[in-house]
Amino acid sequence: MNPFRTIIEPFRIKSVEALKFTTRDERIAALRRADHNVFKLRGDDVLIDLLTDSGTGAMSSAQWGALVQGDETYAGSRSFYRFESVVRDLTGFKHVIPTHQGRAAERILFHTILGAGDVVPNNNHFDTTRANIEVEDAEARDLVVAEGRQPSLVRPFKGNIDVDALETLLQKDGDRVPLVMVTVTNNSGGGQPVSMANLRAVRAVCDRYRKPFFLDACRFAENAWFIKQREEGYAQKTPFEIAREMFRLADGCTMSAKKDGLANIGGFLAMNSDAWAERCRNLLILTEGFPTYGGLAGYDLEAIARGLEEVVEEPYLMYRIRSTAYLAEKISAAGVPIIQPPGGHAVYIDARAMLPHIPPLQYPGIALVNALYVEAGVRGVEIGTVMFGLHPDGVERAAEMDLVRLAIPRRVYTQSHIDYVAEAVIHVSRAKEGLRGFRMTSQPALLRHFTASFDPLN
Ligand code: F0G
Repeated sequence: MNPFRTIIEPFRIKSVEALKFTTRDERIAALRRADHNVFKLRGDDVLIDLLTDSGTGAMSSAQWGALVQGDETYAGSRSFYRFESVVRDLTGFKHVIPTHQGRAAERILFHTILGAGDVVPNNNHFDTTRANIEVEDAEARDLVVAEGRQPSLVRPFKGNIDVDALETLLQKDGDRVPLVMVTVTNNSGGGQPVSMANLRAVRAVCDRYRKPFFLDACRFAENAWFIKQREEGYAQKTPFEIAREMFRLADGCTMSAKKDGLANIGGFLAMNSDAWAERCRNLLILTEGFPTYGGLAGYDLEAIARGLEEVVEEPYLMYRIRSTAYLAEKISAAGVPIIQPPGGHAVYIDARAMLPHIPPLQYPGIALVNALYVEAGVRGVEIGTVMFGLHPDGVERAAEMDLVRLAIPRRVYTQSHIDYVAEAVIHVSRAKEGLRGFRMTSQPALLRHFTASFDPLN
């Protein structure tokens, strides 16, 4: 037995990238230039970037080495076959279709199978998933369990889908549902895991109603780790075995390799259906590329193949999940309201609870994100009324929650960076009564959070 309690970063650092320090006044000016939307900041003006865990991870020396092995053959590249065999071994799916990132897999799948008026159930749709469904005039319906909507409630699997609600939907409107999706972990619901029992129950319902079941598998390895820690019967299994079991309950998946592929770009769509796969590949050729590269270079396929092997290693997952919990515990102990328990890839601050004096339509999440950047150069992201408040009917309503996500890039920041972030959050929280809301001055029709402009209210 290891007598030590400290969980260390399970790597050493071979190459470093300098951070740029800015003054508070410089950050105020940068934010003004960015219309108070942190998506429009220059990355160089950010000290600690927790905007996303997507594509921002550090690759291992083995991945960088694999890049050199990349085979750039247009059709039938050796790198594709290596990629395909790793994905197939993990997921068990017959057809493996590479795409340049997760949303390309979503777009190809949904454009292929959805018709106007269809409904796609999910625990919670991620923003690009929702948008790729709505653009087909179909409906993205969120069916996360009730406990998943209560930020402070501590439960092991708050990402579960409400199986009764799913069954009711299939009973009533089954002919409008071409497939059932579950997102692991549930990003829009706080990075919360889904239990194997829940996936098994979804499988059973899908069998009864003869519906295909797809995973949005972006963070499958983190989900597997939570199952290992929290679900009876899995403590002795490896994360790889658990992940395989998860995938084998489904008929296909969409995947962004920018998360648990430990790569900077890439994704895939995988499935068992020959008919759907043929139609998806045809669309792939039109918009992404030939089926053996799908918008990626051969070296990207190598990096992803290696990344998918590394991401299920236990020392990595232990460190990964522990470092997220470490940040959560620090700020929560100081009274900052967060989604409990902390998710896998991010800590979600409950901005609505923290800033009750700012109503949802004055965007408490934007207020907090702006303050964190001004005070400390830390960039988080609003997941709330700006991201989800504008409905297809053109009406703006408060989202279910107003959260600020601090997403942790994989293998990038050390414990002292995270200590700094905790200090910054606590500093802002002490002056929270002084924060003011925002007014949106311009917005696009879809995915407005990326490019909207804001003005502070006085
Ligand atoms: N599904 C989920 C659950 C995601 O979190 C993301 C991306 C996607 C699909 C789309 O993948 O970015 O490769 O096209 N999430 C990132 C984030 C952007 O910041 O959470 P993509």
